[in-house]
Amino acid sequence: MAGRGAPLMRGGGPSSLPSRSARIVMAVGVGVLLGCVFALLRPDGFFSPVPASSQGRLIPASSKASSPSCESPEWINRLKSELASMSEENAQLKKRVRDVNMKLQLAEQGKDQAEKQVLVLGANYKAGPFGTVKSLRTNPSVAPDESVNPRLAKLLEEVAIRKELIVALANSHVREMLEEWFQNIKKAGISNYLVVALDDEVEELCKTYNVPVYRRNPDEGIDSIARDGGNHAVSGLKFRILREFLQLGYGILLSDVDIVYLQNPFDHLYRDSDVESMSDGHNNMTAYGYDDVFDEPPMGWARYAHTMRIWVYNSGFFYIRPTIPSIELLDRVADRLMRQPKSWDQAVFNEELFFPSHPGYDGLHASRRTMDIYLFMNSKVLFKTVRKDDKFRNLKPAIVHVNYHPDKLPRMKAIVEYYVNGNRDALKNFPDGSD
Ligand SMILES: *[C@@H]1O[C@H](CO)[C@@H](O)[C@H](O)[C@H]1NC(C)=O
Repeated sequence: MAGRGAPLMRGGGPSSLPSRSARIVMAVGVGVLLGCVFALLRPDGFFSPVPASSQGRLIPASSKASSPSCESPEWINRLKSELASMSEENAQLKKRVRDVNMKLQLAEQGKDQAEKQVLVLGANYKAGPFGTVKSLRTNPSVAPDESVNPRLAKLLEEVAIRKELIVALANSHVREMLEEWFQNIKKAGISNYLVVALDDEVEELCKTYNVPVYRRNPDEGIDSIARDGGNHAVSGLKFRILREFLQLGYGILLSDVDIVYLQNPFDHLYRDSDVESMSDGHNNMTAYGYDDVFDEPPMGWARYAHTMRIWVYNSGFFYIRPTIPSIELLDRVADRLMRQPKSWDQAVFNEELFFPSHPGYDGLHASRRTMDIYLFMNSKVLFKTVRKDDKFRNLKPAIVHVNYHPDKLPRMKAIVEYYVNGNRDALKNFPDGSD
């Protein structure tokens, strides 16, 4: 597909080097040849012998041959002063070029800053009275760019509802879970979802079950990177594929396949932040943040140091709006996964999202929202707390993510039994953690 890979694959590649140096060698050769020809035709050179005063800065090329006075001290002194003034002019010219370059650069930076300001604020406002001000957390959506991937753009037009959809990446290793995943999505009456099939088997499976599927062209751009590269390249793939969806202007609910859908999650989103994510936290405190006091008794009066803590966001289920900070986040995560092969994508995702700017580092400024832990529930909350506590009897989550347990499929099925078929004993036989 023409025009697609361009923004993804930067740099000309090493293949452009040999031809360039060959061209240089050729150019030099031609220059030498021309020099020889002119030396034969015009041994006296191009410039007629003219006194330096009338020629300005030009030193007579053949002055020695044509001017008998050229060896006089007067003539030499004139030449010397001519030379001195030339080198001074040269230095001044250089300085002027430097100044202009600097001014250009500053102007560019200023323009950049100004653009950012407009992007963030739209206009300059005076601050309102106490208690009435509210900063911006809902960044503007990017202008959709269909040229990024026309085929995907067409598909998304059919599948998305209000420019939103659920997206899951899957290969045949997770086939059974994927089946459970889309069956529950269908039962919950959700139609705006899409499977990004990473192999033929998954594509076939989706077609068989009438599941919206998108198979990437395996020979182009990032997919060939993923195929030729190691594991780390593949884990970065999710974030790079997601980028295209955002560039096309869609809000994406990224979903792992070990998730049971019980209600339509789009009915429970706030849509006010760049990233709205489910939490790995297991109660209000750990999910929404708290002051963790670090105690160091030898410090005496100042023994308590306060720290900010929050359990990580789950990079297997988050809603991401199509904004510049969101796309920057995806780029930063993908880039780090490429450069640090051993890193864990969820840790990188959280670090990029939360670490502030500090010396030598520009933090991302994306707005964030933690999802309700009982609506977007992880399996620790369900198995450790919710299933045992009567006050949660009437609670029905929108989704349950079996992220804390390795026996995913049986737990997924039990969750459906429990919440959909009303079998209150369905979860009883599972331990809180893994055996
Ligand atoms: C947890 O937070 C929710 C939402 O803020 C609140 O309604 C609930 O009472 C909190 N629960 C506890 C145990 O503090």
